[in-house]
Amino acid sequence: MCGITGYVGGRAGSVRLALDNLKRLEYRGYDSAGVAVVRPGDTQVTVLKKKGKLANLEAALSGLDKSGGTVIAHTRWATHGRPNDVNAHPHSDCTGKIALIHNGIIENYISLKERLTAAGHVFASDTDTEVLVHLVEAHLARGNGLEAAIRAALAEVTGAYAICVVSSEEPETIYAAKTASPLIIGLGEGENFLASDIPAVMGFTRNVLVLEDGDFARITPEGVTLTTLSGTPLQRDVFHVTWDVSTAQKGGYAHFMLKEIYDQPQAIRDTLRGRVTETHQVTFPELKLPTAKLLDFNRIVIVACGTAYNAGLAGKNFYEHLLRRPVEVQVASEFRYNDPIVDSRTLAIIISQSGETADTLAGLREAKIKGATTLALVNVVGSSIAREADEVIYTYAGPEISVASTKAYVTQLVGLYLIGLYIAQEENKLGPGLVADYVEQLLRLPEQVETILADTTAIQEVAQTLKDSSSFFFLGRGFDYAVAQEGALKLKEVSYIHAEAYPAGELKHGPLALVEPGVSVVCIATQSSLYDKVQSNVKEVSARDASTVGIVKAGDEGLNEHFVDSILRVPATHDTFMPALAIVPMQLLAYYIADALGREIDQPRNLAKSVTVE
Ligand code: M6R
Repeated sequence: MCGITGYVGGRAGSVRLALDNLKRLEYRGYDSAGVAVVRPGDTQVTVLKKKGKLANLEAALSGLDKSGGTVIAHTRWATHGRPNDVNAHPHSDCTGKIALIHNGIIENYISLKERLTAAGHVFASDTDTEVLVHLVEAHLARGNGLEAAIRAALAEVTGAYAICVVSSEEPETIYAAKTASPLIIGLGEGENFLASDIPAVMGFTRNVLVLEDGDFARITPEGVTLTTLSGTPLQRDVFHVTWDVSTAQKGGYAHFMLKEIYDQPQAIRDTLRGRVTETHQVTFPELKLPTAKLLDFNRIVIVACGTAYNAGLAGKNFYEHLLRRPVEVQVASEFRYNDPIVDSRTLAIIISQSGETADTLAGLREAKIKGATTLALVNVVGSSIAREADEVIYTYAGPEISVASTKAYVTQLVGLYLIGLYIAQEENKLGPGLVADYVEQLLRLPEQVETILADTTAIQEVAQTLKDSSSFFFLGRGFDYAVAQEGALKLKEVSYIHAEAYPAGELKHGPLALVEPGVSVVCIATQSSLYDKVQSNVKEVSARDASTVGIVKAGDEGLNEHFVDSILRVPATHDTFMPALAIVPMQLLAYYIADALGREIDQPRNLAKSVTVE
C-alpha cells in the first residue's frame, strides 16, 4: 500500500508541497520515499530517493525543496524487492527522460523483464514496477507519442496499479491511470494535485475526482482529461469532501480497526493475485524450494504469536485434513524452551504480520539451528523474519495500523490455504480438478466477505445486547474451534471483557461451572457434520441462563433461532475455509462492543502493535 502524490501548476516550492502532502499518507505505511521533478527546458527528469522515513529524503533534498516544476512523489510499502534506495520509486527509463511511480503489483513482470532485458533495457532495481517505465520507453521507440506509449504499456501488464508518469518531453503534464489500486485527482485553480487518497490534498482543495478502474488521466495546470484505457472520453462527478483530515485518513471510518475489517476483501484479492493460474492451479513464482524437497518433509511445525498463532491453528486443521501429515502449532515464546522435535525433514512455517516479533524471530532461528527448512508467511516485506527465513511468502494485507489484527489474520489464512494446496498439488495428493475446486472457493472469498460487510445491522444489535456481559465463551469444534480462538482474542483485546475459547465438547469438563446469567456464549457452527453435538453443547449453556449467539452458514438450519438467542449467518464455502468468513462477524462484534463501551479501539491499553522484546 504505497502512497502517491503529484502536482502540476505554477507554485514555487512544488517539491516541498508534494512531500508535505505525502506526510498525510503516512498511515499507508512506508519503508522508503522518492520524488521526481521536471521543469520546462530540462533534458531529463530529476529523481531523488531514499530508504527509510520521509525525513531521510527531506534531508537529502539540498535545495530541491525550493524548486518549482511538475512533481510526482512516492512512499513505498515494499512488495517486490527489499526496501532500499534503489528499489524506492520513482523509477526511470534508460534515457532518464521518463520517471514513473506505482502502487500495486505487476503480476507478469518477470516475463516482461526478460523480454525487455533481451531487447537491451538496463534494469536498476528488483521491483516489479520498473518494467512499466521500460515498457513505456520501448513503445516510445516504436514512434508512439508519450500518451500512446503509456496506454500501450498498460495494455501489456496484468495486475494492480495506480501509476503517475512524467517526462522531460512534456514537462507540464502528468499522466495517471489506475486499476485495482486507488488514485484521486484534487482540482485546483490553474493547478492540479494527485494522490492515493483524499487526505493528501485536503490542504489545497476539497474538490476531487475519484478515479475508477480502467481510468486514464492527462493532467495539466489547466485541466484534466479523463478517458478509458483505450481512449474513449469519460466524465466523472466531482466529489466535494466535507470530512476532517483524521476521518479522511481512516477512509471515513471511525477507527482504523473498522477500516481494516472493511479492507479485507481487497487484502484477500491481493494475496491471491499472481498465485492462481488460469486453470485454477496454485503457483508460487517466489519459491525456490525444489518440489522434491517439498515432498520430503515428514512433518510441519507452525510457529507464531497471537493472531498469527491462531491462523496457524486453522492451518493445522487444513493441512492434516488435506496432506495427512503431522502438523504441530507452537506459540513462539514456548517453542524454543520446549526442546521441539525438529530436524532436516521438518518444514517450519513462521507466521508474522510485522515480521519483527522477537519471540517469533527467535523461534525461526531455533528451527534453523535444528536443521528445518523455514518458510516465512509475513506481511511486511524486507522485515527481519522475511530476510532470515529460507523462503518467504508475503500476505499483501497492506499496512495494518490498528493493534488488533484483522486483515492480517484473513490473509494469513489465505496464505496457509494456498501453501497447503500447493503442496497437495505438487505431490499429486489432489488431482488438478480438485485443486481447481478449492481454488474456485478461495476466489469467491472476497465477494463473500463483502456480503457480510454489506449489512452489519444484526451484528450491531447483538453487540448492544451483550456489551455488559461479565464474560464470554467462544465455542466450536474442529475448524470452528480454531477460529473461536481468534474471536475470543479479538474481543478481549479491544473490549477488555474476559473471553475464552473452548472446544464445544470440553465445557462440561470444568468451565461450565463458570456459566451463569450475565455470561455470553458465541457458538460457531459451520461444519454440518457436527451440528448435533453443537446443539447439545448450546443447550448446556442456555439451561444455565447464558446469552447465546450462533454463527452459522447461510442456508443451514442445524443451529437456528430455536437453539440460540441470536443468529449471525455468513455465506457458505468449503468447510475448511469457513474460518475466513466466520471470523468477520466476530471481528465486528468485538469492534462494536468495544465502541459501545468507549474503549481506545485502535490502541488498547497495555498493548503494542509489534512486540519486539521477548
Ligand atoms: O506481527 P506479528 O504477527 O508477529 O504479531 C503477533 C502478535 O503480537 C499479534 O498477532 C497480536 O496478537 C495482535 N495484537 C492480535 O490482534
